Amino acid sequence: MEAPYYHVLGAREEITDSVLSVFTDSIDIPDRYNQAERVLDGVIVGEDERYELPVVDMAKLLDPESSTPETAKLGFACRNWGFFQLTNHRVDEGVMQRMKDNTVQFFSLPLESKKTVAVRGDDFEGFGHHHRRSANKLDWAESMVLVTQPARDRNLKMWPTKPPTFRYALESYSVATMDLAMRLLGFMATDLGVGPEVLQGAFAGRRQRMTIHHYPPCRYREKVMGIFPHTDSLGLTLLLPVNDTPGLQIRKDGRWFPVRPLPGAFVVNIGDTLDMLTNGTYRSIEHRVIPDAERHRTSIVMFHAASVGGLVGPLPELVKGGEARYKSIKVEDYVKGHLKAEDERKPFIESLRI
Ligand code: OGA
Ligand code: NI
Repeated sequence: MEAPYYHVLGAREEITDSVLSVFTDSIDIPDRYNQAERVLDGVIVGEDERYELPVVDMAKLLDPESSTPETAKLGFACRNWGFFQLTNHRVDEGVMQRMKDNTVQFFSLPLESKKTVAVRGDDFEGFGHHHRRSANKLDWAESMVLVTQPARDRNLKMWPTKPPTFRYALESYSVATMDLAMRLLGFMATDLGVGPEVLQGAFAGRRQRMTIHHYPPCRYREKVMGIFPHTDSLGLTLLLPVNDTPGLQIRKDGRWFPVRPLPGAFVVNIGDTLDMLTNGTYRSIEHRVIPDAERHRTSIVMFHAASVGGLVGPLPELVKGGEARYKSIKVEDYVKGHLKAEDERKPFIESLRI
């Protein structure tokens, strides 16, 4: 079997009219989109098989009566799956709905309008799609990437002005998801046996990045990849499915488990830097998206970065008397390492293991 590719989601390319016609009325899949051998790599758990992905209930975390067992459930999910769905999260419904509506409206704009914020050169912000440089393959998706926090790092030239409420929707959604990430990190710290400030401090004031994705349906879904297998390079990811179209799959014990979105829930996952901070106790898990045959799929993803004193590596409080399982490296070298790892086709975090 071919070694897995670890894709850096920073490698992006502009979307042109010809791309659009491939998405809308292709009678054949152009070679650059054909990733059949990757799609068929690994067994997908079938519709008829019963399995349960972890679900964590924020209301139970917050209730002193049920907080202890629910925190244990959260810990189990982060240690064994690296993924869970979060219900009763208390993010304002209006804020969520406005972000969903604006996302759908943005993708339904004519291409010329979306091109006003097109990704350029080696940049990663803007409208475009993911490009696996090493194999010269393109994903079956369009996406928009923006830095959302800290506010001084925003590149407002790239923030869409159409639909007109997009900026406002994103601003409030960004604040609400940052708060939610912090609240979750507090409970994760409890599970790990440290004070909430230990984990929260590694994320406070660090970057938050948004990606919204649109995966058009594809008749030849055994050939194309919506996002090819990767782990998230930042620390904590909060994904909001806009509708219940399936497509996201996570790898566990060599098999792909489809995520069946619960209404109103977030899909939360551990990224590489949180895996490193916890000294490998929480796991960053490989995942991918396969487009649906008939239905559009849209998702809103917020990534949260983490570092301590300019370094990415295990927190001393979590190594305690034991051995560090990862080297600590500077944030800049971490980012550069990820870009290079794509070319070498090996997971960068593996190269930091001791
Ligand atoms: C990502 C990602 C999955 C999805 O953006 O890193 O894995 O369902 N997205 O859009
Ligand atoms: Ni991802």
